[in-house]
Amino acid sequence: MARILNVHARKVWDSRGRPTVEAEVSVKGAGKGAVGRAIAPAGASTGSGEAKSIDARKAVHAINTEIRSFLVGKDLNQETLDHALIAMDGTADKSRLGGNAIVAVSLAIAHAAAAAAKKPLWQYLAGKRPVCMPVPQIQIFGGGAHAHGSMDVQDFMVICSGAGSFAEALEWTAEVYKAAGARLARRGALRGVADEGGYWPAFKSNEEALVELTGAISDAGHEPGADIGIALDIAATQLWRDGRYHLALEKRALSAEQLHAMLLGWIERYPIVSIEDPFAEHHTEAMASFTRTAGGRIQIVGDDFFVTNEKKLVEGKAQGACNTVLLKPNQAGTLTETLACWRAAQDAGYGAIVSARSGETEDVSIVHLAVGWGVPQLKVGSFARSERMAKWNEGLRIEEALGGTKLPFPARKLFRRGATGRPK
Ligand code: PGA
Ligand code: ZN
Repeated sequence: MARILNVHARKVWDSRGRPTVEAEVSVKGAGKGAVGRAIAPAGASTGSGEAKSIDARKAVHAINTEIRSFLVGKDLNQETLDHALIAMDGTADKSRLGGNAIVAVSLAIAHAAAAAAKKPLWQYLAGKRPVCMPVPQIQIFGGGAHAHGSMDVQDFMVICSGAGSFAEALEWTAEVYKAAGARLARRGALRGVADEGGYWPAFKSNEEALVELTGAISDAGHEPGADIGIALDIAATQLWRDGRYHLALEKRALSAEQLHAMLLGWIERYPIVSIEDPFAEHHTEAMASFTRTAGGRIQIVGDDFFVTNEKKLVEGKAQGACNTVLLKPNQAGTLTETLACWRAAQDAGYGAIVSARSGETEDVSIVHLAVGWGVPQLKVGSFARSERMAKWNEGLRIEEALGGTKLPFPARKLFRRGATGRPK
């Protein structure tokens, strides 16, 4: 097994121009040795149970002092080292060394191990297991905390459920993204792009975004529902205040029951195949009730609700809340904990989506995690801005390495063709 020679961190900058931390782990193995590098991302609509990021300079300092002195000379074993980092931090939320410091190091360890084995990370993680490309969820309109509340709903996305390959899903998305931009421009409703690259529209209601997105799918020559479905991230924790869900754009506040009814109406009228965080993170009963009603027809995803936490996933399953989990390595803090959550999801019969954050960089690790771990879906934001495109383009490289478009692509299996789909 390769041994760690050095650990080094530096402050770098993310896609919102905010400081973050980059870690490098160099190893001595057979031959010349190798280096693994990773950068911590950052969320804006964070769940309260997430690993806590600390000031980037302090995170850099923690890596270059305490973490470095512990890791140098150790064998490169992901699970052992991740557990050691958790114990060294000593807090429940990783706030002493910093969730950002720990996730950057944990990911850099994985990259170093793959480099020492002279394999791409996805292949190193997959081992002998057969893999295929994840189905992308791609944002077309961005709102919520990513666009100063331009819309209450955070993500209006597409899932190209009829596409035959990852490459074809991106082709179709490019067409929809262009068509959506053209529609907005014609109406004078285009304000710019939000944090994840989706259009920042001047709409009068959240439902208008659904009308426009369905129209853009048709304009691009695809059949809404059959070829391309709509996925939403309500990010409802952000809307919850004083006992109600506030739709600021529409100047109204809803009870959980009213929000439930509104979402069901949307599922009836639009080709929605997936809804993430339909209720606030503490609203387990509302989440379970919505899952009972709609979970047989669509994918219901817990992001802030599960915060990539194995224990919360198991509890959520027992309560009947959601049927899919979003996996964000920096919510958990280490790769080992992220993988444990994915394994718990598989045991529970839940679907899973590996996801980026709204604050990202050129780091493409999460694409490798999705492929290498066999997670069937991937969400990295929109179809613009290089911190997003870097990840889609990495997916194209991996698909090519896997044998191109001849391989089975799970979209058709995951989402039944039709007005609404349900993950199998
Ligand atoms: P965040 O948004 O990175 O700001 O949390 C992404 C999401 O909610 O899925
Ligand atoms: Zn989310």
